[in-house]
Amino acid sequence: MAAVSNAPPRHVAIVMDGNGRWAQRRHLPRIAGHKKGVDALKRVVKLCVARGIGVLTVFAFSSENWNRPEEEVSGLMELLALALAREVKPLAEEGVRLRFIGDRNNLSQRLKDGLSQAEQATASNERLLLNVCFNYGGRWDVVQAARQLADTGQEITESALSSMLATAHCGDPDLLIRTGGEMRLSNFLLWQAAYAELFFSATLWPDFDEADLDAAIQAFGARERRFGLTSAQLLTGAAG
Ligand code: FPP
Repeated sequence: MAAVSNAPPRHVAIVMDGNGRWAQRRHLPRIAGHKKGVDALKRVVKLCVARGIGVLTVFAFSSENWNRPEEEVSGLMELLALALAREVKPLAEEGVRLRFIGDRNNLSQRLKDGLSQAEQATASNERLLLNVCFNYGGRWDVVQAARQLADTGQEITESALSSMLATAHCGDPDLLIRTGGEMRLSNFLLWQAAYAELFFSATLWPDFDEADLDAAIQAFGARERRFGLTSAQLLTGAAG
């Protein structure tokens, strides 16, 4: 088999796992780990801009995270509000376009307004699209897309369903990274990750740095992406 050397991924998705353990190891409250997680996210956004990655999609709060202790849930809501107040301007200055993906129904009006304002304020930026998945679940996404299709009475096809997903504006991830040593998707981008290359890093998210991101990009570069074809078909371009 010929050595593979893919172009860098266009779209990187990340399950930012390990904040709680990072904090617990330091005898700090879990929310201290999530705060460090915001710093790690800011670092990774800068790195993605520098690496020419077009889309970064991160899992910040899952549909299932409501079941965490009330203190942690409200801490994460506060952290999002704080990030909106502090980080939108510097992100905009770096050319980042922000989109929030997920069910906004259960969020406070203040948060809903903040999300919309951040999206509007960064709508014309083109260097990096940052999708923050908040109150997101892959199953929720497929169900809301299917409901939209049913409402319009359209024929149910893969492309019609894809066009109704919360990620229709940016397409599917090429590389999906999960930090923190666990090896599962945890209801993240279930449909969209069908052909993503998966990379599992043992690094806890608050510690995730340039070397970790580059290791993932390098591993991606060496993967043979066959999309259901054989290696021989890829070499000759003889599919179909
Ligand atoms: C998983 O780690 C992480 C989360 C549930 C939250 C992720 C949020 C951030 C990184 C902050 C960025 C968010 C905003 C508000 C923009 P975990 O708590 O499950 O870690 P553990 O597995 O070590 O317990």
